[in-house]
Amino acid sequence: MPNPFRSPAQLAERLGDVGYLADDALAMAAFLALGLDRPLLLEGANGVGKTEVAKALAELLGRELIRLQCYEGIDTTQALYDWHYGRQLLDMRDSAGRSSADVFTRDYLLSRPLLQALEAGDRAVLLIDELDRADDEFEAFLLELLSDFAVTIPEIGRVAAPAPPLVVLTSNRTRDLHTALRRRCLYHWVGHPDAEREFRILRVRAPHVPTELARQVATAVQRIRGLGLGNPPGVGESIDWAGALHMVGVATLSADVAAATLSALVKDIDDQQVVAGSIDDVVASAS
Ligand SMILES: Nc1ncnc2c1ncn2[C@@H]1O[C@H](COP(=O)(O)OP(=O)(O)OP(=O)(O)O)[C@@H](O)[C@H]1O
Ligand SMILES: [Mg+2]
Repeated sequence: MPNPFRSPAQLAERLGDVGYLADDALAMAAFLALGLDRPLLLEGANGVGKTEVAKALAELLGRELIRLQCYEGIDTTQALYDWHYGRQLLDMRDSAGRSSADVFTRDYLLSRPLLQALEAGDRAVLLIDELDRADDEFEAFLLELLSDFAVTIPEIGRVAAPAPPLVVLTSNRTRDLHTALRRRCLYHWVGHPDAEREFRILRVRAPHVPTELARQVATAVQRIRGLGLGNPPGVGESIDWAGALHMVGVATLSADVAAATLSALVKDIDDQQVVAGSIDDVVASAS
Protein backbone atom coordinates (compact mmCIF):
# COMPACT_ATOMS: atom_id res chain seq x y z
CA MET A 1 0.00 0.00 0.00
CA PRO A 2 1.48 3.42 -0.87
CA ASN A 3 2.26 5.67 2.06
CA PRO A 4 -0.99 7.49 2.85
CA PHE A 5 0.98 10.53 4.03
CA ARG A 6 2.97 13.02 1.95
CA SER A 7 5.53 13.77 4.62
CA PRO A 8 6.39 13.14 8.27
CA ALA A 9 5.11 16.65 9.01
CA GLN A 10 1.72 15.79 7.54
CA LEU A 11 1.63 12.57 9.56
CA ALA A 12 2.46 14.51 12.75
CA GLU A 13 -0.29 16.99 12.00
CA ARG A 14 -2.85 14.25 11.40
CA LEU A 15 -1.77 12.47 14.60
CA GLY A 16 -2.43 15.78 16.35
CA ASP A 17 -5.98 15.69 14.97
CA VAL A 18 -6.58 12.43 16.87
CA GLY A 19 -4.99 13.79 20.06
CA TYR A 20 -1.44 12.42 19.80
CA LEU A 21 1.38 14.96 19.73
CA ALA A 22 4.43 13.35 18.16
CA ASP A 23 7.84 14.98 17.92
CA ASP A 24 9.66 15.14 14.57
CA ALA A 25 11.74 12.00 15.11
CA LEU A 26 8.76 9.83 16.03
CA ALA A 27 6.74 11.18 13.09
CA MET A 28 9.64 10.34 10.77
CA ALA A 29 9.99 6.80 12.18
CA ALA A 30 6.26 6.12 11.77
CA PHE A 31 6.26 7.65 8.29
CA LEU A 32 9.13 5.39 7.23
CA ALA A 33 7.54 2.30 8.80
CA LEU A 34 4.40 2.91 6.74
CA GLY A 35 6.27 3.68 3.53
CA LEU A 36 8.78 0.84 3.79
CA ASP A 37 6.38 -1.76 5.23
CA ARG A 38 8.70 -2.34 8.16
CA PRO A 39 7.73 -3.01 11.77
CA LEU A 40 8.37 -0.14 14.16
CA LEU A 41 10.10 -0.96 17.44
CA LEU A 42 9.52 1.66 20.14
CA GLU A 43 11.56 1.58 23.31
CA GLY A 44 11.25 3.99 26.20
CA ALA A 45 10.41 4.52 29.85
CA ASN A 46 6.95 4.01 31.34
CA GLY A 47 4.15 6.29 30.24
CA VAL A 48 5.91 8.10 27.40
CA GLY A 49 3.22 7.30 24.83
CA LYS A 50 4.47 4.07 23.16
CA THR A 51 1.18 2.16 23.32
CA GLU A 52 -0.84 5.27 22.62
CA VAL A 53 0.90 6.02 19.34
CA ALA A 54 -0.14 2.62 17.97
CA LYS A 55 -3.74 3.35 18.98
CA ALA A 56 -3.56 6.80 17.42
CA LEU A 57 -2.14 5.42 14.16
CA ALA A 58 -4.93 2.83 13.96
CA GLU A 59 -7.54 5.51 14.52
CA LEU A 60 -5.95 7.82 12.01
CA LEU A 61 -5.61 5.15 9.34
CA GLY A 62 -9.13 3.83 9.98
CA ARG A 63 -7.68 0.39 10.69
CA GLU A 64 -8.51 -2.17 13.32
CA LEU A 65 -6.07 -2.20 16.25
CA ILE A 66 -5.10 -5.78 17.08
CA ARG A 67 -3.19 -5.92 20.33
CA LEU A 68 -1.02 -8.65 21.73
CA GLN A 69 -0.06 -7.98 25.33
CA CYS A 70 3.12 -9.95 26.05
CA TYR A 71 3.92 -11.62 29.35
CA GLU A 72 6.34 -14.18 30.70
CA GLY A 73 5.45 -17.61 29.36
CA ILE A 74 3.34 -16.39 26.42
CA ASP A 75 3.39 -18.95 23.62
CA THR A 76 1.93 -19.51 20.19
CA THR A 77 -1.36 -20.92 21.49
CA GLN A 78 -2.11 -17.54 23.07
CA ALA A 79 -0.44 -15.40 20.45
CA LEU A 80 -1.01 -17.11 17.11
CA TYR A 81 -3.60 -19.89 17.05
CA ASP A 82 -5.10 -22.77 18.94
CA TRP A 83 -7.29 -25.66 17.91
CA HIS A 84 -10.97 -25.75 18.68
CA TYR A 85 -10.65 -29.05 20.53
CA GLY A 86 -14.29 -29.27 21.59
CA ARG A 87 -15.56 -28.94 18.01
CA GLN A 88 -12.93 -31.34 16.73
CA LEU A 89 -14.02 -34.01 19.22
CA LEU A 90 -17.72 -33.49 18.55
CA ASP A 91 -17.32 -33.60 14.80
CA MET A 92 -15.13 -36.68 14.91
CA ARG A 93 -17.70 -38.42 17.12
CA ASP A 94 -20.73 -37.29 15.09
CA SER A 95 -19.40 -38.10 11.70
CA ALA A 96 -18.23 -41.66 11.60
CA GLY A 97 -15.38 -42.12 9.24
CA ARG A 98 -13.97 -38.61 9.71
CA SER A 99 -10.32 -39.04 10.43
CA SER A 100 -8.25 -36.84 12.67
CA ALA A 101 -6.63 -35.34 9.57
CA ASP A 102 -10.02 -33.84 8.62
CA VAL A 103 -10.27 -31.79 11.78
CA PHE A 104 -6.85 -30.15 11.55
CA THR A 105 -7.96 -27.65 8.93
CA ARG A 106 -8.52 -23.88 8.91
CA ASP A 107 -12.17 -24.41 9.98
CA TYR A 108 -11.05 -25.72 13.36
CA LEU A 109 -8.44 -23.06 14.00
CA LEU A 110 -8.99 -20.37 16.63
CA SER A 111 -7.22 -17.21 15.54
CA ARG A 112 -5.26 -15.37 18.18
CA PRO A 113 -4.02 -11.77 17.64
CA LEU A 114 -1.02 -12.53 15.38
CA LEU A 115 -3.04 -14.70 13.01
CA GLN A 116 -5.91 -12.20 13.05
CA ALA A 117 -3.49 -9.45 12.05
CA LEU A 118 -1.90 -11.51 9.28
CA GLU A 119 -5.30 -12.33 7.85
CA ALA A 120 -6.45 -8.70 8.11
CA GLY A 121 -3.28 -7.52 6.34
CA ASP A 122 -3.22 -3.79 5.69
CA ARG A 123 -6.63 -3.35 7.30
CA ALA A 124 -4.92 -3.77 10.70
CA VAL A 125 -2.40 -2.17 12.99
CA LEU A 126 -0.77 -4.93 15.03
CA LEU A 127 0.50 -3.81 18.43
CA ILE A 128 2.89 -6.28 20.07
CA ASP A 129 3.01 -4.58 23.44
CA GLU A 130 5.77 -4.93 26.05
CA LEU A 131 7.74 -7.56 24.17
CA ASP A 132 10.49 -7.42 26.79
CA ARG A 133 8.15 -9.32 29.14
CA ALA A 134 8.05 -12.35 26.82
CA ASP A 135 10.77 -15.02 26.75
CA ASP A 136 13.59 -15.38 24.24
CA GLU A 137 11.81 -18.28 22.49
CA PHE A 138 8.79 -16.15 21.77
CA GLU A 139 10.97 -13.37 20.42
CA ALA A 140 12.69 -15.87 18.10
CA PHE A 141 9.32 -17.15 16.95
CA LEU A 142 8.39 -13.62 15.83
CA LEU A 143 11.29 -13.37 13.39
CA GLU A 144 9.52 -15.01 10.44
CA LEU A 145 6.42 -12.95 11.05
CA LEU A 146 8.35 -9.68 11.20
CA SER A 147 10.43 -10.23 8.07
CA ASP A 148 7.93 -12.05 5.82
CA PHE A 149 4.57 -11.11 7.37
CA ALA A 150 3.87 -14.83 7.33
CA VAL A 151 3.90 -17.78 9.71
CA THR A 152 4.05 -21.50 9.22
CA ILE A 153 1.41 -23.64 10.92
CA PRO A 154 2.56 -27.28 10.73
CA GLU A 155 -0.86 -28.80 9.92
CA ILE A 156 -1.91 -26.11 7.48
CA GLY A 157 1.18 -24.66 5.91
CA ARG A 158 2.23 -21.08 5.42
CA VAL A 159 -0.18 -18.27 6.15
CA ALA A 160 0.92 -14.99 4.61
CA ALA A 161 -0.65 -11.55 4.97
CA PRO A 162 -2.29 -10.36 1.73
CA ALA A 163 -0.54 -7.03 2.38
CA PRO A 164 1.65 -6.15 5.36
CA PRO A 165 -0.14 -4.83 8.42
CA LEU A 166 1.50 -1.92 10.21
CA VAL A 167 3.31 -3.56 13.14
CA VAL A 168 4.28 -1.59 16.24
CA LEU A 169 6.33 -3.33 18.92
CA THR A 170 7.00 -1.75 22.30
CA SER A 171 9.52 -2.47 25.01
CA ASN A 172 10.25 -0.92 28.40
CA ARG A 173 13.75 -2.31 28.11
CA THR A 174 13.50 -4.51 31.19
CA ARG A 175 15.72 -6.85 29.17
CA ASP A 176 17.61 -6.45 25.93
CA LEU A 177 15.88 -7.54 22.75
CA HIS A 178 18.00 -9.53 20.31
CA THR A 179 19.83 -8.03 17.36
CA ALA A 180 17.96 -10.38 14.99
CA LEU A 181 14.67 -8.82 16.04
CA ARG A 182 15.99 -5.25 16.02
CA ARG A 183 17.39 -5.72 12.50
CA ARG A 184 13.93 -6.48 11.15
CA CYS A 185 12.44 -3.27 12.55
CA LEU A 186 12.84 0.46 12.40
CA TYR A 187 13.87 1.66 15.83
CA HIS A 188 12.85 4.72 17.78
CA TRP A 189 13.56 5.65 21.37
CA VAL A 190 10.58 7.48 22.86
CA GLY A 191 11.82 10.00 25.40
CA HIS A 192 9.89 12.15 27.83
CA PRO A 193 8.48 15.23 26.11
CA ASP A 194 9.98 18.64 26.77
CA ALA A 195 7.93 21.08 28.87
CA GLU A 196 6.34 22.79 25.87
CA ARG A 197 5.11 19.56 24.28
CA GLU A 198 3.95 18.18 27.60
CA PHE A 199 1.99 21.39 28.15
CA ARG A 200 0.33 20.90 24.75
CA ILE A 201 -0.41 17.25 25.58
CA LEU A 202 -2.04 18.39 28.83
CA ARG A 203 -4.18 20.88 26.90
CA VAL A 204 -5.38 18.07 24.63
CA ARG A 205 -5.75 15.28 27.17
CA ALA A 206 -6.97 17.33 30.16
CA PRO A 207 -8.76 20.25 28.53
CA HIS A 208 -10.70 21.06 31.71
CA VAL A 209 -7.48 21.98 33.55
CA PRO A 210 -6.87 25.76 33.38
CA THR A 211 -4.03 26.83 31.07
CA GLU A 212 -1.90 28.35 33.81
CA LEU A 213 -2.11 25.25 36.01
CA ALA A 214 -1.30 23.01 33.04
CA ARG A 215 1.79 25.08 32.29
CA GLN A 216 2.95 24.88 35.91
CA VAL A 217 2.41 21.11 35.98
CA ALA A 218 4.42 20.64 32.77
CA THR A 219 7.31 22.70 34.18
CA ALA A 220 7.20 21.10 37.63
CA VAL A 221 7.18 17.59 36.16
CA GLN A 222 10.30 18.42 34.13
CA ARG A 223 12.06 19.41 37.33
CA ILE A 224 10.83 16.28 39.13
CA ARG A 225 12.17 14.07 36.33
CA GLY A 226 15.56 15.65 36.92
CA LEU A 227 15.67 14.51 40.58
CA GLY A 228 17.09 11.09 39.74
CA LEU A 229 14.01 9.09 40.75
CA GLY A 230 13.90 5.32 40.32
CA ASN A 231 10.62 5.65 38.42
CA PRO A 232 10.24 9.13 36.98
CA PRO A 233 6.62 10.06 36.20
CA GLY A 234 5.36 9.49 32.67
CA VAL A 235 3.01 11.65 30.66
CA GLY A 236 0.02 9.66 31.89
CA GLU A 237 0.98 10.58 35.48
CA SER A 238 1.31 14.28 34.55
CA ILE A 239 -2.20 14.16 33.13
CA ASP A 240 -3.48 12.50 36.30
CA TRP A 241 -1.70 15.02 38.50
CA ALA A 242 -3.07 18.00 36.60
CA GLY A 243 -6.55 16.47 36.92
CA ALA A 244 -6.02 15.84 40.64
CA LEU A 245 -4.84 19.40 41.30
CA HIS A 246 -7.83 20.75 39.43
CA MET A 247 -10.15 18.44 41.34
CA VAL A 248 -8.99 19.74 44.72
CA GLY A 249 -9.73 23.23 43.48
CA VAL A 250 -6.35 24.87 43.04
CA ALA A 251 -5.77 27.37 40.25
CA THR A 252 -2.01 27.65 40.76
CA LEU A 253 0.52 25.22 42.17
CA SER A 254 1.57 25.53 45.81
CA ALA A 255 4.01 23.39 47.76
CA ASP A 256 1.35 22.16 50.19
CA VAL A 257 -1.10 20.96 47.58
CA ALA A 258 1.66 19.59 45.37
CA ALA A 259 2.97 17.48 48.26
CA ALA A 260 -0.54 16.37 49.24
CA THR A 261 -1.42 15.12 45.75
CA LEU A 262 1.79 13.23 44.94
CA SER A 263 -0.20 9.97 44.96
CA ALA A 264 -1.31 10.83 41.43
CA LEU A 265 2.20 11.54 40.17
CA VAL A 266 4.87 9.44 41.88
CA LYS A 267 4.16 5.75 42.45
CA ASP A 268 6.97 4.69 44.76
CA ILE A 269 7.59 5.55 48.42
CA ASP A 270 11.32 6.30 48.04
CA ASP A 271 10.65 8.51 45.02
CA GLN A 272 7.82 10.29 46.84
CA GLN A 273 10.18 11.11 49.71
CA VAL A 274 12.75 12.54 47.30
CA VAL A 275 10.12 14.71 45.62
CA ALA A 276 8.61 15.80 48.95
CA GLY A 277 12.10 16.85 50.08
CA SER A 278 12.50 19.11 47.05
CA ILE A 279 8.93 20.29 46.72
CA ASP A 280 9.68 23.98 47.43
CA ASP A 281 12.28 23.99 44.67
CA VAL A 282 9.97 22.17 42.28
CA VAL A 283 7.12 24.58 42.85
CA ALA A 284 9.39 27.63 42.67
CA SER A 285 10.72 26.46 39.29
CA ALA A 286 7.16 26.35 37.98
CA SER A 287 5.95 29.68 39.37
N1 LIG B 1 2.63 12.35 22.64
C1 LIG B 1 1.48 12.19 23.29
N2 LIG B 1 0.37 12.82 22.88
C2 LIG B 1 -0.79 12.66 23.55
N3 LIG B 1 -0.94 11.92 24.66
C3 LIG B 1 0.14 11.27 25.12
C4 LIG B 1 1.39 11.36 24.46
N4 LIG B 1 2.29 10.63 25.13
C5 LIG B 1 1.63 10.09 26.15
N5 LIG B 1 0.34 10.46 26.16
C6 LIG B 1 -0.66 10.12 27.19
O1 LIG B 1 0.01 9.39 28.19
C7 LIG B 1 -0.70 8.19 28.50
C8 LIG B 1 0.32 7.11 28.70
O2 LIG B 1 0.84 6.72 27.45
P1 LIG B 1 1.10 5.18 27.07
O3 LIG B 1 0.19 4.30 27.84
O4 LIG B 1 1.08 5.09 25.60
O5 LIG B 1 2.55 5.02 27.61
P2 LIG B 1 3.55 3.79 27.41
O6 LIG B 1 4.80 4.37 26.90
O7 LIG B 1 2.88 2.73 26.62
O8 LIG B 1 3.74 3.34 28.91
P3 LIG B 1 4.03 1.86 29.50
O9 LIG B 1 5.45 1.56 29.12
O10 LIG B 1 3.87 2.03 30.97
O11 LIG B 1 3.03 0.93 28.89
C9 LIG B 1 -1.64 7.95 27.33
O12 LIG B 1 -2.86 7.44 27.74
C10 LIG B 1 -1.83 9.32 26.73
O13 LIG B 1 -2.97 9.90 27.30
MG1 LIG C 1 2.29 0.80 27.06
